[in-house]
Amino acid sequence: LHVVILAGGLSHERDVSLRSGRRVAESLRETGVRVTVRDVDSRLLPLLAEERPDVVWPLLHGSTGEDGSIRSLLELLELPYVGSDAAASRVASRKPVAKGLVADAGLATPGSVALPQSLFRELGAQGVLDAVLGSLGLPLVVKPADGGSALGVTFVRSAAELPGAMVACFAYGDLALIERAVTGTEVAVSVVDLGDGPRALPPVEIVTDGPYDYDARYNPGRTEYFVPARLDEEQCRTVCEAAVTAHRALGLRDLSRTDMILDDEGTAWFIDMNVAPGMTETSLFPQAALAEAGAGGMGVAELYRALVVRAAG
Ligand code: DAL
Repeated sequence: LHVVILAGGLSHERDVSLRSGRRVAESLRETGVRVTVRDVDSRLLPLLAEERPDVVWPLLHGSTGEDGSIRSLLELLELPYVGSDAAASRVASRKPVAKGLVADAGLATPGSVALPQSLFRELGAQGVLDAVLGSLGLPLVVKPADGGSALGVTFVRSAAELPGAMVACFAYGDLALIERAVTGTEVAVSVVDLGDGPRALPPVEIVTDGPYDYDARYNPGRTEYFVPARLDEEQCRTVCEAAVTAHRALGLRDLSRTDMILDDEGTAWFIDMNVAPGMTETSLFPQAALAEAGAGGMGVAELYRALVVRAAG
């Protein structure tokens, strides 16, 4: 079995992707799979067309990594790959679109407004403040509509902070999502489907002494993780069901990770869907997989192998 892992690419999450690619490659090799890790550049398509691996695993994160562009090229080459198809990836990775679809499926998601940079220029900072504060109030979270790892995300406590947050956000993309901030327990639930339907892995609870930003995500020791999360049975069922509902509502395949906030009333608020969850040493999907293995489930390397075998058909 020959697997090509795609890692790197041109998004802001390039470094994270390289780390994810290395980790998954190491794990797959432990199970006897032949793995080649390739970056994404102009030579990729001819290389893939020539070597025709059994399976490709696109471990690319953020914007062009996760929005389905590369996956549609793999479909063009008729190469099987791990993960959701191009169309579903495009929908799920665009936060305002994903929020609308999961809300239609009955999940709670914080009220928000999507604002293109061109409209921000037209309305001016005061115009945006007038439009947004009236409907959403404070505090808010401003984030790029695409992309992950908390890049370009700002927590806004006062009206004065909003214009700066918008400018910081537009450094990462042309569409901003301005979202009502919800407080509660930050929980991420990974979902896998090995052919018998999507099922949730143990929830991961994230505890930081500041924002769960890029630094807190990728520097070991900056964040405390509880796996499984310190939830009672009902809370655990709520977040696991929400993750599976989101996975289904967005038409995803093989694996995903839903980031949520569980509030004091027991409502799980959908925040974000990841079609290519991070697989680094501090990432959440591998921690969930490890917890499942510890509870008598499949080992992490075996799980990765099973995803590859399933994709190979
Ligand atoms: N966007 C990164 C890779 C994650 O959420 O895991």
